[in-house]
Amino acid sequence: MPTSWEDYIKGPSNQAAIQSYRALSEGAFRPLRRVLANVVKTCEPSSIACLGAGVLNDIPFDELVLSGAAIHLVDLIPGIVDRGIGQSVLIDRNADDADIDNQGTDDACVFCALGAARAAKWCKRFNGAGRPDSSRICGGFTPVGGNAKGCLSYERAELPNVLYQDVTGGYATAFGHAALNATEKAISWKQAFGIATAAAKQLRNRRERLDIADGSIDLVTSSMLLSQFEHEPYDYFSRQVAARLGPPSAREENRLHRTLEKLKNDLLLNQIAAHCEEVARILAPDGRFFVAFELFHYDPARDAWFMVPEMHAALGRLAHHFNFDFAALPPADSIVTFKLGEASSVVQNFLMRHKHAA
Ligand SMILES: C[S@@+](CC[C@H](N)C(=O)[O-])C[C@H]1O[C@@H](n2cnc3c(N)ncnc32)[C@H](O)[C@@H]1O
Repeated sequence: MPTSWEDYIKGPSNQAAIQSYRALSEGAFRPLRRVLANVVKTCEPSSIACLGAGVLNDIPFDELVLSGAAIHLVDLIPGIVDRGIGQSVLIDRNADDADIDNQGTDDACVFCALGAARAAKWCKRFNGAGRPDSSRICGGFTPVGGNAKGCLSYERAELPNVLYQDVTGGYATAFGHAALNATEKAISWKQAFGIATAAAKQLRNRRERLDIADGSIDLVTSSMLLSQFEHEPYDYFSRQVAARLGPPSAREENRLHRTLEKLKNDLLLNQIAAHCEEVARILAPDGRFFVAFELFHYDPARDAWFMVPEMHAALGRLAHHFNFDFAALPPADSIVTFKLGEASSVVQNFLMRHKHAA
């Protein structure tokens, strides 16, 4: 049975798995959250849009809320951002310089820190009665449990603005649909690649807009998102074809090698181009675009670092759309190491501005 693109991206909605990954990766993502928190302090944006926000592992949600900026969080997967916010409401005690004193023994909720009138705008379950055991969390607070932090009761109120939309102007979604069509029509891998390659090219002109006004955002972030464009929606396409036609024979695989590489590359670069165009549309004239992606990976088997070649091309594509701003991002924040279990990567961070900006 083929899987639709919509069902595929939802994945298994296993809340326990999301929570345990959060607890496990808490320290690994901290350097990235610190860099973004510094960017917010330096740029003092009045509006922030985090594209590909996911479960907010790499986003210092507490700092964003305390900054007072209008916040927009966008992701393709329905419900994921709301789950992420529930896990991000507690102020990070270990952040270098949390904005408020939170060195006590009890947890502090970032919405409660705003005061009762404002907290109710962020969380429908805010209960101003407070708790006998804490002055920093409200009566509605239910701990997530286990090693994970967060509030199980959290329910989004009018803030922040959360959008479940495609940050590639609809390109990834449209290709997902075309990939299923290619799978259903094709009677060989070669034919499936032919249909998919034509669709990847033809869909380049398609543009759907996020529900965010032109030129309205002071800081747009795209953190660890380009690294994902390298895999999807190509993996979806190849999995659907393999499920219908079986894996390619060794001979087919040999013959299709270059076609495969070209399709993967086209999908990556077309998604980046469409993403950049949408970012340029919503970015304020003097706004900043923060991009973070994994440029190097560590291979423990060879004890060697290697550069992700696709990300080199990605960098070129970014430079085509935006100017780099090295003045606003100190060198120490330009590179961070991400280490989780056996996996290590070097994440490169950039601040960019409109091409036309002085
Ligand atoms: C690797 S995660 C980035 C880290 C993320 N901030 C987190 O903490 O989960 C990439 C996120 O981008 C989202 N994404 C990928 N392609 C997208 C698209 N075309 N439009 C919107 N979101 C997309 C994924 O659903 C995922 O949540």
